[in-house]
Amino acid sequence: MVAFDGSFHGRTMGSVALTATEKYRLPFMPVMPDVRFAQYNDIASIEATITDDVCAVFVEPVQGEGGLRVVSDAFMHRLRELCDQHSALLVLDEIQCGMGRTGTLWAHEPYGVRPDMMAIAKPLAGGMPIGALLLNECVAEAISYGDHGTTFGGGPLATTVAKVVFDRISDPAFLERVREVSSYLDEALHDFAAERADTVIELRGRGLMRGLKIHGSAADVRMRGHDAGVLLAVAGADVVRMLPPLIVEPQHIDEVMAVLREIM
Ligand SMILES: Cc1ncc(COP(=O)(O)O)c(C=O)c1O
Repeated sequence: MVAFDGSFHGRTMGSVALTATEKYRLPFMPVMPDVRFAQYNDIASIEATITDDVCAVFVEPVQGEGGLRVVSDAFMHRLRELCDQHSALLVLDEIQCGMGRTGTLWAHEPYGVRPDMMAIAKPLAGGMPIGALLLNECVAEAISYGDHGTTFGGGPLATTVAKVVFDRISDPAFLERVREVSSYLDEALHDFAAERADTVIELRGRGLMRGLKIHGSAADVRMRGHDAGVLLAVAGADVVRMLPPLIVEPQHIDEVMAVLREIM
């Protein structure tokens, strides 16, 4: 299997083996063997790594923990080609970037590339614990009912909530609004980055999944934001991560930008 530098796929035994960041993986050694890590957005690296002995390639269209890096168009298309060429499955992890977060229902939509498998979870039931794995026809044919299961899998409460949340988020009018407010945020962040060019090194991410790579400590910014009533996250030591709710309004973005101007 192939995964990428900066990847975070979770902390169960299979997914932790696909997680490049050593602080997550090393405490669980020995993990599932035979995983190779290639370089994200580096076409030469995937051309060298995806060979006939590879069965699956796992990638986040927008990396969360890895610093809000976005897969380039050329990289995503080359991944699909190499997977087809070597009979490997292309598996997208849309657990953090899926479900409207980047302005389309799925983060991979703008590439026009179809995955063979896709993992979704976090927002799927609006905070109720649930995860799902979507399979294409070819993979689904290889799995029968009862091959895989879990105690709470498919529970009626979580799946009923997920259905309601999914119906809301997949509504084209809702997604259009996410795109509108994303443009507002994008403009606000660009203005801020231009103003604070001495502090902000790079603006990253897409839609309502944004990162500010900064000189200095992202954890400090998070702490000061928290004290000022704004919940920020970090991705590594120097990226401030912003994941506003999909129902955020322009006035909330103004409030957050005012706080950022004060604390940074
Ligand atoms: C991209 C991505 N994949 C998978 C996961 C699932 O992680 P866990 O198994 O810790 O719930 C996360 C959680 O942060 C994530 O961001």
